[in-house]
Amino acid sequence: MKLRAVLAAAIAAALVMPAALQAQAQAYDAARARQDWVLNCMGCHTADGSGIPGKVPALRNSLGHFVSLPEGRRFVMRVPGAANSALSDAKLANVLNWLLATMNEQSRPASFKPYTAEEIAAHRRPALTDVARTRMKLVKELQENGVDAVPEHY
Ligand code: HEC
Repeated sequence: MKLRAVLAAAIAAALVMPAALQAQAQAYDAARARQDWVLNCMGCHTADGSGIPGKVPALRNSLGHFVSLPEGRRFVMRVPGAANSALSDAKLANVLNWLLATMNEQSRPASFKPYTAEEIAAHRRPALTDVARTRMKLVKELQENGVDAVPEHY
């Protein structure tokens, strides 16, 4: 019956829509991100993303500031640990979006748009060779904007 079909479609839409909207707002698969983080990033950046003093920078409460700058957004995709990881473009986007949502919820700008696989594919290569210089430039730019939360030296 026609009405039935229409009703069924309406109910299906009502059930599916919130999930779709939620996924869009969230833009990451947490379980997958955590697994990829553990296998590909955590060994150096440590479990809670606070890094190792003198060796590995924290990814907590800093990436949100970097992505507020256009060059900083590219920097995050192009640091060797991210760019050269075994992760596919989609998986790298997923991990970065998860990091930004779970470890950088304070520093992330309200206007932040999640990374997409297409964006990662377009920018991750070549990986940065002058990481320290690029980073210093970005930290200075943040300081000029009144943001002192990202340390020059880690
Ligand atoms: C072998 C150790 C290692 C692994 C594995 C690693 N990183 Fe890193 N990461 C570093 C080091 C060291 C730096 C500092 C910059 C440099 O020397 O490349 C860094 C810098 C970064 C930065 C820039 C942060 C800042 O404040 O400068 C980001 C973002 C980042 N890594 C993300 C990742 C992600 C995401 C992964 C996993 C896909 C990952 N890294 C895996 C060692 C690692």
